[in-house]
This record gives sequence, C-alpha cells and structure tokens, in this order.
Amino acid sequence: MKAVGLYRHLPIDHPESLLDLEVEAPVATGRDLLVEVKAVSVNPVDAKRRIAGKDQAETAPKILGWDAAGVVTAAGPDCRLFKPGDAVYYAGSVIRPGSNSQWQLVDERIVGRKPANLAFAEAAALPLTTLTAWELMFDRMGISKAGAHEGRSVLILGGAGGVGSIAIQLAKKLAKLKVTASASRPVSIAWCRSLGADETVDHSRPIEKREFDFILCFHSSDHYWRSFPAIAKPQGRIGLIVRTTRPVDLAILHDKSIAVCLEGMFTRSTFQTPDLKAQHEVLEETAGLVEAGVLKGTMTRNLGRIDAANLRKAHKMLEDGHVTGKLVLEGWPR
Ligand SMILES: NC(=O)c1ccc[n+]([C@@H]2O[C@H](COP(=O)([O-])OP(=O)(O)OC[C@H]3O[C@@H](n4cnc5c(N)ncnc54)[C@H](OP(=O)(O)O)[C@@H]3O)[C@@H](O)[C@H]2O)c1
Repeated sequence: MKAVGLYRHLPIDHPESLLDLEVEAPVATGRDLLVEVKAVSVNPVDAKRRIAGKDQAETAPKILGWDAAGVVTAAGPDCRLFKPGDAVYYAGSVIRPGSNSQWQLVDERIVGRKPANLAFAEAAALPLTTLTAWELMFDRMGISKAGAHEGRSVLILGGAGGVGSIAIQLAKKLAKLKVTASASRPVSIAWCRSLGADETVDHSRPIEKREFDFILCFHSSDHYWRSFPAIAKPQGRIGLIVRTTRPVDLAILHDKSIAVCLEGMFTRSTFQTPDLKAQHEVLEETAGLVEAGVLKGTMTRNLGRIDAANLRKAHKMLEDGHVTGKLVLEGWPR
C-alpha cells in the first residue's frame, strides 16, 4: 500500500523530510479496525514528531498523521462498535503508525462514525482538535457542557488555529460562555467571528490586562505564563495544551488560587486508561452535533492528494504558525 513517511528527521525544506513509500498493509486483530483512509488532516504534532529524535535514523519507516476519515474494510474478532463498510473518523494513537497510509489500524474505542453531512475531507479536519478542546474544557477544566457556567468569560489564545476553531464553537454553543478569541490578522479575526466569538483581541500586541473566568491557551505556554496572574480572575482556571519547555513559577498563581489544567490528547490511548472509550463517545456526540447544525466543520483548505510533496507543503504552512482553521489532504496518487 502507499504511505508517506520518513527514515530521517529532517527540516521540511529537505526533499527527503517526507517520502512516498510502498509498505505492507497491516491486518486487524483484537479490537482494531482496518480503515481505508480517504482523507487526512495535518496538525502541529506531525511537524513536532517529524523532527523529534533528530540524530537517530529509523530502521522502519516512521509514518506520521493523526487525523483521518475513511471506511472500515475489516474488523478484529473482538470489535463490537463498528463493522466493514462503516464510514468513520478518528485521530488515532501517537504510539502507533499514523494515518498517512492507504490502510491504517486503529482501536475502535477511539473511533467515531463520520458525520453523515460531511465529506471525508471535511470530517478528517475534526477529530484531533475536537478531542483536544473537548477533553481540556469539559474533562480537565470542569467547564459545564450543559451551560451551567452560562455568561462566564473565556479567553481563547490562538482562536483561529485548528484547536481554537472548534473550542470557540464548544465554548459558545455548548458551554454558553462569553467568548473572547485572540487573532492577529483580518482573515483570522473574521474566521473567529464567523465561528461565534463575541469579540477578538490581537495577540501580536501585549495582552490587555482584563480578567477572565477561563483561559484556554493554544499557543506557547512559556510565552503566556507570566501574563496569567493579571488576566485570570481569582479562582479562575487556565487550560494548557502546549508543553512548557522550562520550569515555570507556580507561586505567581497562588494569591488568586488559579488552577492550571493540562491536556494531552494522546494520554488515554498512550496509557490505555480504563476510560479509553470516552474518545469514541466524544466523536459520536460531535457527529450528532455536526449533523444537527450546532457545530460546523473547520476545514479551510484542501491541498489535494495525499503524497509527500503536498504533506511537505502542509507541514511548512503549519510551521509558519498562521494557519486559519484546518488543512486537509484527500485521495491517493494512482
Ligand atoms: N496537548 C495536546 O493534546 C495538543 C493537541 C492539539 C494541539 N496541541 C498543540 O497546540 C498548539 C496549537 O495547535 P493548533 O492545531 O491549534 O495550531 P495551528 O492551527 O497551527 O495554530 C495556528 C494559529 O496560531 C495563532 N497564533 C500565532 N501566533 C500566536 C500567538 N502569539 N498567540 C496566540 N496565537 C497565535 C495564529 O493566529 P493568527 O494567524 O491570527 O496570528 C493561527 O491561527 C500546537 O503547539 C499544537 O502542537 C496540543
């Protein structure tokens, strides 16, 4: 089968940073589904994993990609949730080969049925970012999905990015919060407003000293850390998804009793937590909300077929740091 992968961890402008490959198709066992991948989307984790472990060459090709939509072609003997022929979408597990391959194995407990009103490309844009925003807001930060915090304020730093694009919608439509999203350019400001942000602030300038009940930080945690005491309300909650790269001073948050919550979208699958199936449930609920018109898709660009040249283009765009919404690739070269 066709796949896109790497043997060496190279900068994206190197022609061998991502390669078109032929690899053996896997076989489904246990609770794994074998999915024929129709479309994928690209996330910053792909670029981070592409350069991680720089000095070591891979003996087997490393296949990236953690967002896909496709059709189940085989199911392991223990599968109960899906069967061959089902259209699905999922992010997958970062400790397994990724979705940049014609067929992929994925545990059915982290898979959802594809929203019926979305094309495969549009569906592929949603899983990783939705799981991240959902788990962060509702599981880690304790924001009420049923609207019990209605009218409270949230600041979303990085509102127009992949995670921000779905977080704005979850905050507005489900949690019923007053949403302030950060964006720095006319196109990203307009995108945040179109998704439901009540107002935007410009993150290319110092963040205004105003207090919010909740802060969702989808950009460098290091960069924003020292701003948090001034912009979080007493007893406020901050959600981080980007790993700090140096020690941070927790004491600056103590006077206001500010809580910090961390989200790792791959925690459940990496550690096989007993509640692994929660990701299946989030994707199923999301499919229903998309079909009901409560949430809308976040794809902004379809870069064409899934090959190394197009994936290099997508990685480059993400590394430049100003993608609005989600980039998607669809279909395989003949
Ligand atoms: N822990 C997890 O499970 C998890 C899951 C998903 C993502 N992540 C991480 O979260 C980060 C965001 O992911 P993503 O998919 O949303 O990325 P993305 O789509 O590449 O984000 C691009 C956005 O970042 C905004 N941005 C640029 N400079 C900024 C700044 N100084 N402050 C705030 N926003 C800024 C841009 O807005 P403008 O164009 O308006 O400047 C752009 O819309 C990445 O580091 C990713 O690796 C972690």
